[in-house]
Amino acid sequence: MNAKKAAADKAVSYLSNGMVVGLGTGSTAYWAIEKIGERINQEGLQIKAIASSMQSEYQAKALGIPMVSFADINQIDITIDGADEVDPAANLIKGGGGALLREKIVAANSTQFFIIVDESKLVSQLGKFPLPVEIAVFGWEKTMNRLSGLGCLPARRIKEGKPFLTDNGNYIIDCEFGKIVDSAAIHEKVNAITGVVDNGLFIAMASKIIVGAADGQVKVLE
Ligand code: 5RP
Repeated sequence: MNAKKAAADKAVSYLSNGMVVGLGTGSTAYWAIEKIGERINQEGLQIKAIASSMQSEYQAKALGIPMVSFADINQIDITIDGADEVDPAANLIKGGGGALLREKIVAANSTQFFIIVDESKLVSQLGKFPLPVEIAVFGWEKTMNRLSGLGCLPARRIKEGKPFLTDNGNYIIDCEFGKIVDSAAIHEKVNAITGVVDNGLFIAMASKIIVGAADGQVKVLE
């Protein structure tokens, strides 16, 4: 059994008719979207969804998942998304796939935010995974310099030989901190830099951490 799929299947088992569901982004969220499509097509599950990236929206539409926009709804009931690191206090680093801004907007407007991971994502301290920071293209060199002033080694993300652009037309700067001792303080300091749109620290946002193992076992951390 794929550990990511095991976690995703468990998360999707919490969905019920009438819910508005937030769709995450990445290789773990991929399995959740597949499972939602399966439940719609096999059981007639009635939900509506909002995606956190163009990639997830494309996948969802191809599976026949009905999509809505923020203008159509009051609140998202449950969002299911992956993470790059999860600490013991359920603080997260996200944005490995570059979708952190839309993911955070979706999560911030959700009653429940479920994180699905395999065991490799559980860490005692955040920061080994470079912190993704979404910044405006205009003046990016200066914004990146100011990020380095926070004690990290920043690098503009490159994909297929070109600067990576988010769905919002911004750059991602991956900031290597090594370890992040006070994640809430770093979150505030990064976002206080002019030119930064948001960063991949998700502090006290997760309601459940659903951890899949390779043998198909799943643990739910509340
Ligand atoms: C995308 C994300 C992903 O949730 C995160 O990178 C984890 O991805 P994966 O499930 O592929 O390991 O934040 O921006």
